[in-house]
Amino acid sequence: MSISVVPVVITPTEVDIIKWIDKKCFPNDINSLNFDGVYWWFAYDGDKPVAYAGTIYFPNNNAFLSRAGVLPGWRGMGLHRRLVRARERAAKARGYTRTVTYTSPENVVSSNNLIRFGYKLYTPPYKWGLVNGLYWERVLVRDTSDDIQIDDLPTAS
Ligand SMILES: CC(C)(COP(=O)(O)OP(=O)(O)OC[C@H]1O[C@@H](n2cnc3c(N)ncnc32)[C@H](O)[C@@H]1OP(=O)(O)O)[C@@H](O)C(=O)NCCC(=O)NCCS
Repeated sequence: MSISVVPVVITPTEVDIIKWIDKKCFPNDINSLNFDGVYWWFAYDGDKPVAYAGTIYFPNNNAFLSRAGVLPGWRGMGLHRRLVRARERAAKARGYTRTVTYTSPENVVSSNNLIRFGYKLYTPPYKWGLVNGLYWERVLVRDTSDDIQIDDLPTAS
């Protein structure tokens, strides 16, 4: 089976698709879906959209990986990880140097995927998402001033 992960142009059709998948993924949380300033990706199995994810580009060089959902029949295939990677690549291409996101404390699958990709917990200046959420960050591009660290230099024998 070949599943593609692609950015999508949002028309009313895509909005309906996102709402439909979202309802399957967050049955008790349908009110917090936001479309303002969100760039979306879909995973397509053939021509069927089976997962979505969004990015909001914050003005401070941080790309916020926002909501993501994978339909139950397509979970455990690495689609969430592919959606994280796709959004990181796009953020890098736009010159963003850091991705940030949050997870609910009980969402072990998402948290483990982020840890696997090198995300670290951090304390945001303010919690723009869940009040009890775990907030994660990952630096995408090293600052050139970090290129040579004193600890990286060979020690004299
Ligand atoms: C959380 C969620 C996005 C993960 O998506 P996913 O594409 O299944 O995630 P991945 O395949 O990348 O990682 C799956 C992990 O789930 C587990 N898993 C394996 N089979 C699974 C299955 N059939 N169903 C669910 N999880 C499974 C494994 O631990 C796997 O890790 P592994 O690859 O090391 O074995 C998805 O479960 C979902 O949409 N949940 C509801 C909405 C939600 O919580 N969204 C995230 C908000 S940040």
